[in-house]
Amino acid sequence: MIAKLGLALSGLLAPAVAETIHGVAVYSRHGDRNTKHYGAQALTSVGFEECYQVGGQYRARYLSADSPHRILGISESKYVSSQIFASAPDSGILWGTATAFLQGFYPPLDQTDPDLLTTKLNNGSEASNPIGGYQYVLVHGEDDDAPDAIWIKGDQSCPANKAAKATFKDSAFFKQRDEETKSFYAGFKDALSEVYDYTSPSNFSYANAFDIFDLINVARIHNASSPALDVSDEDLAQLRTLADSAEFESNYNASQPDRSIHGRTLIAGLLNQLNSTVTSQGKVKFSLLAGSYNTMLAFFGLTGLSEVSTDFKGVPGYSSTISFELFTEEDLEAFPDNTDDLRVRFLFRNGTTGQPTAFPLFGKGKDSLSWPEFVDEMSGLELGSAEAWCGACKSDLPFCAAYSGNSVSGQSTGIKGGMSKEVKGGIAMITIGSAALLSGALFFMLAARKMRSHRAAVAAGVGAAAEKGSIHSGSTDSRV
Ligand SMILES: *[C@@H]1O[C@H](CO)[C@@H](O)[C@H](O)[C@H]1NC(C)=O
Ligand SMILES: *[C@@H]1O[C@H](CO)[C@@H](O)[C@H](O)[C@H]1NC(C)=O
Ligand SMILES: *[C@@H]1O[C@H](CO)[C@@H](O)[C@H](O)[C@H]1NC(C)=O
Ligand SMILES: *[C@@H]1O[C@H](CO)[C@@H](O)[C@H](O)[C@H]1NC(C)=O
Ligand SMILES: *[C@@H]1O[C@H](CO)[C@@H](O)[C@H](O)[C@H]1NC(C)=O
Ligand SMILES: *[C@@H]1O[C@H](CO)[C@@H](O)[C@H](O)[C@H]1NC(C)=O
Repeated sequence: MIAKLGLALSGLLAPAVAETIHGVAVYSRHGDRNTKHYGAQALTSVGFEECYQVGGQYRARYLSADSPHRILGISESKYVSSQIFASAPDSGILWGTATAFLQGFYPPLDQTDPDLLTTKLNNGSEASNPIGGYQYVLVHGEDDDAPDAIWIKGDQSCPANKAAKATFKDSAFFKQRDEETKSFYAGFKDALSEVYDYTSPSNFSYANAFDIFDLINVARIHNASSPALDVSDEDLAQLRTLADSAEFESNYNASQPDRSIHGRTLIAGLLNQLNSTVTSQGKVKFSLLAGSYNTMLAFFGLTGLSEVSTDFKGVPGYSSTISFELFTEEDLEAFPDNTDDLRVRFLFRNGTTGQPTAFPLFGKGKDSLSWPEFVDEMSGLELGSAEAWCGACKSDLPFCAAYSGNSVSGQSTGIKGGMSKEVKGGIAMITIGSAALLSGALFFMLAARKMRSHRAAVAAGVGAAAEKGSIHSGSTDSRV
């Protein structure tokens, strides 16, 4: 299916007349890790290496002087902080994913341009960064309860999303799969015999489809003494396919927008990064966000990709990347004066092999859209403010207290439901204090009570997010 489609699209791409790429936004899944089951997942050496390789491949595509896809004016070897924005949740696995990617994107200068390695001091000696001119690319780490974490992991601390996902078990789809696969899953008792909480026969079922696949898949890669090594390739493929269906369906259901809240905030985060390239007239050139496969699946459903190919209903491989290229069809030397001349192309790369491939979004059958058309489609899907997210999620995270007395709460659960344009773009700027002042004393007391009951660090965290140039303040922060 993908092969056929790739062909169709390469027909569209073939003439590749000198176009110019002005900016790119990438969202990456983490690399190989140990199992999620015990809740202590971390990148493995394989995973770090994968992310590093992917960063190197994106370097070859977007930075190398001889690449036809080079981003206009981007520094090839030396990291220039104003050109790059990177953000990941404050978790070892995702922050590590972004960091390893960027190590491959901007490697130590002794590997890429030794001429730039050293600087001369006034006293005549030379100095260079440690580790062969290592480059310290800034990755904004987002605390779980920081407003800017929602752009990357909008499912976290989101009760409405959790509740919507849980209703998958009530669906006819689930019940049928569960029934059909009972004897298949019962066959994995030996393979999981050492897993402490797989004891009851009911544990071996479609309800645990991803967990079972993940335990066995990880053990087969890393653990030479695990009985999971006896699982055949065919059975593993079957476990993967079943896990794919359970994960896709629970992260996307056209009649239940709440299942994809994380996809809708990702859409807002990516749109905002591309918009920061547009509003800065090409100054912000490359954005990297690191996140999880479930957010990708929600995104694939929302943007119509799962209709283009059922492959998009499968969990993307480790270190998979989705990317958006903002380009002009002409060979330009500068950012275009008219933003209507800009186009956006979506690409997907599954795991660590092959080239990123373009796919049509929003059921339009086109490999790129004009910037205005793209903005229109994305805006129709996004959950674009902390306020809209708090309302859709019914979240009790402390920063949501600022909106809880407000009629907007709970309004934005429909796909087309949105935030007002005034609110949008300002998330990191709205401090709890100023919002409370605007909304009156009763609300202030409510917010204050909620705030007090939370650990003190959080208030500081909200302020810190505004300070350090978050995704939403990105377009106005000169350091981004
Ligand atoms: C020159 O200055 C640097 C930085 O202060 C110092 O580390 C280095 O020892 C100096 N070299 C000489 C020859 O004085
Ligand atoms: C999708 O949502 C509808 C409406 O809530 C529900 O009836 C249906 O069972 C859901 N399908 C799946 C596969 O979860
Ligand atoms: C296995 O089943 C037991 C009993 O129903 C339950 O307490 C436990 O959480 C289950 N474990 C998993 C991994 O589903
Ligand atoms: C490898 O598998 C064995 C047998 O299941 C288990 O006891 C051990 O904890 C596993 N090691 C790791 C690192 O998961
Ligand atoms: C882009 O950013 C500008 C300036 O912050 C804002 O006015 C505009 O609404 C944004 N557009 C989109 C599509 O986000
Ligand atoms: C990516 O690869 C996985 C594993 O092979 C597969 O299940 C999934 O369908 C693929 N996704 C796409 C969009 O090709």
